[in-house]
Amino acid sequence: MNTKPTINYGLEGIYVDESAISKVDGQNGKLWYRGYSIEDLAEKSNFEEVSYLLIYGKLPTKTEYEEFVTKLKERMDLPEEVKKVIKAMAPVAHPMDVMRTATSMLVMFDKDPSNKDLDATVDKVITLIAKLPTIAAATGRFREKKSFIPPDNSLGLSENFLYMLTGKRPNKFESKLIDLMFILHAEHSTNASTFSVLVTASTLADVYAATTTGIGTLKGPLHGGADESALNMINAIGNPDNTEKYIEEALEGKQRIMGFGHRVYKAYDPRAKLVRSYLEESLTKEPSDEVKKLLQIALRAEKLMIDKLGNAKGIWPNIDFFAGPLYRVLGIDSKLFTPIFVASRMSGWGSHIVEYWHNNKLVRPLEYYTGPLDVPYKPIEQR
Ligand SMILES: CC(C)(COP(=O)(O)OP(=O)(O)OC[C@H]1O[C@@H](n2cnc3c(N)ncnc32)[C@H](O)[C@@H]1OP(=O)(O)O)[C@@H](O)C(=O)NCCC(=O)NCCS
Repeated sequence: MNTKPTINYGLEGIYVDESAISKVDGQNGKLWYRGYSIEDLAEKSNFEEVSYLLIYGKLPTKTEYEEFVTKLKERMDLPEEVKKVIKAMAPVAHPMDVMRTATSMLVMFDKDPSNKDLDATVDKVITLIAKLPTIAAATGRFREKKSFIPPDNSLGLSENFLYMLTGKRPNKFESKLIDLMFILHAEHSTNASTFSVLVTASTLADVYAATTTGIGTLKGPLHGGADESALNMINAIGNPDNTEKYIEEALEGKQRIMGFGHRVYKAYDPRAKLVRSYLEESLTKEPSDEVKKLLQIALRAEKLMIDKLGNAKGIWPNIDFFAGPLYRVLGIDSKLFTPIFVASRMSGWGSHIVEYWHNNKLVRPLEYYTGPLDVPYKPIEQR
């Protein structure tokens, strides 16, 4: 009789690989991409440069940066076939389902999708980084029965997303906000979606298959979908004065408060701190009454949750809690929050695929079997 092995449910605390891409220090609430602090990157860099850094492991020179940005701009537009499918799906399906399907379709336009040479892999990753914001924006447009807006080559990737979604060129502050969200969501070590991307990549399936897996995994409310769920909760609270009663009752009913808690961070998520500080800045820029109310509710909920569960249980706000109110500053519908996460996280997923294929090993964990053995088979008439 086998003795039962130690099982780490949810792979909690298990190292599955080495990586030089990002480090999450959960005890101290710190995050680095390739050794650069998230605070420095959020303040001084932009999404294109961060994507380059994640993929190539170093900051680009001016020429490298320009070549990279040119490639991205050349690839942002979508094939007509993909636009048609987005148009058909967007009015009836959740935008994450549209993202997953449209991304999967891109394999049709790659002449050599299974080529795993380093250059070919990086090239596919760049194509996906360029196209996913356009898929997200097109989904938003077609959901509202509006027409597709092609990318504007004078704009950066994240501000292009806003432009293609709204038809308006963002002002400086709006460009900063959307780029901040793209930078902060770009990478986060072996979270559920990145791990699922690597599981698929480890079978030597192609970059499109791995990315589609990642999108499916990111959809869930315990992972990427938490941003939409957190805003739904803030909206359900409705009035700032209801905040404490709502949260207390939810906690008493053993409900999870979306946007709080994290498998690795047992301190305040540094990305949430950054989003919170930009939200406070947005309050100085005459936001709508809706945004003011959302923020009042969010700040009261944050205080109560920290008082109750912060030090006591290591449950602090994560980025998804403040992401929703910030996207509302930009007028973005809550159903598009997780698709933006996808568009940004492509840089991290792609970097991990590139790194993993340097030393590929099929992922195949074990399960401890608890069922019977050698059960006699009865024909159907005798059951
Ligand atoms: C992210 C998450 C799944 C990580 O959880 P985990 O590491 O697996 O921890 P567990 O689910 O085992 O929870 C540990 C304890 O904290 C509680 N807890 C965790 N997150 C909580 C939350 N958001 N609200 C209330 N209680 C929470 C659990 O109920 C559990 O309590 P118990 O020990 O009394 O049973 C969890 O914090 C969560 O569900 N958060 C909400 C969803 C979210 O914001 N996800 C985005 C993450 S970036």
